[in-house]
Amino acid sequence: MPQNHFLTSSSGSLQIPLSFHLPADFLRLPLIDTEGIMKATCQVMEEDPVTALQHTTTEGYLPLREFIADRYSCRLGATVGESQIVNGSQQCLDLFAKIFLNPGDHVGIERPGYLGAIEAFSLYEPVIDTVPLEEDGPNLAVFERLIHGTMVKFFYGIPNSQNHSGLTYLQEKTLAIAEMIEGSNTVFFEDDAFGELFVDGSPRSLIKRYAGAECALLFVLKDYRAGYAYQVDIRT
Ligand SMILES: Cc1ncc(COP(=O)(O)O)c(C=O)c1O
Repeated sequence: MPQNHFLTSSSGSLQIPLSFHLPADFLRLPLIDTEGIMKATCQVMEEDPVTALQHTTTEGYLPLREFIADRYSCRLGATVGESQIVNGSQQCLDLFAKIFLNPGDHVGIERPGYLGAIEAFSLYEPVIDTVPLEEDGPNLAVFERLIHGTMVKFFYGIPNSQNHSGLTYLQEKTLAIAEMIEGSNTVFFEDDAFGELFVDGSPRSLIKRYAGAECALLFVLKDYRAGYAYQVDIRT
């Protein structure tokens, strides 16, 4: 069964992704745990304000990295050593592009693609190649040509509730992509901003779960505008 919801025309020939129209005052709804954040901030400032406000190690505050690794050990087999704390997803997108891209290098993204990523990558002047999204995920033939023919430095994708389309890859496509990535010289840069935000409460699967070392992951903690990323082993 597809995980995406569509409006289907009476003839069945036209399918339109179902999206929600948010009320104008949506941003003022009490959806963020402001009280919890206030309490946590006060607790940190009472217990160890100097450490909280001082520079820390490049990888980020170790107890936070341990907490994240512990939380994601089941979903991902994540380890502390692989994690990096970042200031929101834009920093992670920028770091990734900085490491991988020189002017003229090829990078793959979904079409339509996430504007924040396109902006971050564009600073490094790559050639951006796109793979069209279908109802169940990226077009596999185009994806394969990009991975094996064009040799993109990395492919950036959002398999769960993709921004801009709202699509979620079907499990079969997730597995097919993981398989293709494993046998390639490229990396899947997986943005899981929304993978745990489904109304049924069950997190969706991740390409990283299947592709292992060839997949880097970006998570985002919304409230504090912090995020974290799992690094990738770069083959020599
Ligand atoms: C695909 C995707 N990744 C990450 C983010 C989070 O970005 P930020 O950390 O800048 O809030 C968003 C926010 O809309 C997004 O759509």
